[in-house]
Amino acid sequence: MKSVMDLVMEQISTCPTMSGREEPPPAICQCGCGELLQPVHFWTPEGGVWRYPTICSRQDQEYKRRKKAASLRESIEWIDEIFPRRSMGPRQLEATLDNYEPFEGILVGLKAARIYLENWEENVKKGRGLIFQGEVGLGKTHLIAAIVNELQRRLVFSYFLSVPLFLERVRDSFDEENTSEGKVMRALAAPRLLALNDMGAEKSSEWAIERLYQLIDDRYNYRSSVLVATNLDARGLASVYGSRIVDRLYEMCGAPIRLEGDSYRKRRR
Ligand SMILES: Nc1ncnc2c1ncn2[C@@H]1O[C@H](COP(=O)(O)OP(=O)(O)OP(=O)(O)O)[C@@H](O)[C@H]1O
Ligand SMILES: [Mg+2]
Ligand SMILES: [Zn+2]
Repeated sequence: MKSVMDLVMEQISTCPTMSGREEPPPAICQCGCGELLQPVHFWTPEGGVWRYPTICSRQDQEYKRRKKAASLRESIEWIDEIFPRRSMGPRQLEATLDNYEPFEGILVGLKAARIYLENWEENVKKGRGLIFQGEVGLGKTHLIAAIVNELQRRLVFSYFLSVPLFLERVRDSFDEENTSEGKVMRALAAPRLLALNDMGAEKSSEWAIERLYQLIDDRYNYRSSVLVATNLDARGLASVYGSRIVDRLYEMCGAPIRLEGDSYRKRRR
């Protein structure tokens, strides 16, 4: 008995002799998807010919997904190069919403993160983000890392940045030719979502605040989403960063989501 492939080959080889008029029957794709490949008609100097598409829709989708994944990896590596001490360690890379234990006091954070991801398309269009605020060890960093991880899994260009590391980098880049301050700022404008970890943990000189302002103002202007994890409450944020930064953050993110309870680090001991 002839295999399907034999039949396809037979059809393809007989196509040109059909004088380009009569359409040959569709062929079954060999990848296992079962899709019927419709022949397409072409004109050549020798006359009309029929050809089957070389890939089916499943292969086409897979090809596009791989291309997107490669381009995402490249984009992330591009920023990682600017921050040689990367902001995310294995601890953050492993963070998901599923491995975040829902204790009372922090459940509000988990719910907000889930709803945020469920409505990601709308949130990103409007440049919306979230601010997680609370005492040490409540999983604020875990939550923003989990959101970044999930979006990257969906092949969305999102990036997790330690704010103290950012300020250190911008300070250093003054004396470097290759990594100018402008390059750092441009790189951080690119992700569709930028997670700012540990806001307020750095020593905030006027100079530092100005750099952070530039970063946030740029993302604000372009409706690019940000997530924030901070120990500071609303008043604390305003007193450290001033109203120009905090006003923009609140408009983008709404009021901070306050996590309460005992440090998870203490629970683990
Ligand atoms: N509810 C939770 N379920 C599982 N792991 C958690 C939870 N909360 C925190 N952790 C883990 O505990 C550690 C500390 O959490 P994390 O760094 O996110 O806290 P934080 O609120 O950012 O603290 P800090 O204010 O000191 O930065 C991390 O390893 C994190 O993955
Ligand atoms: Mg933290
Ligand atoms: Zn197929």
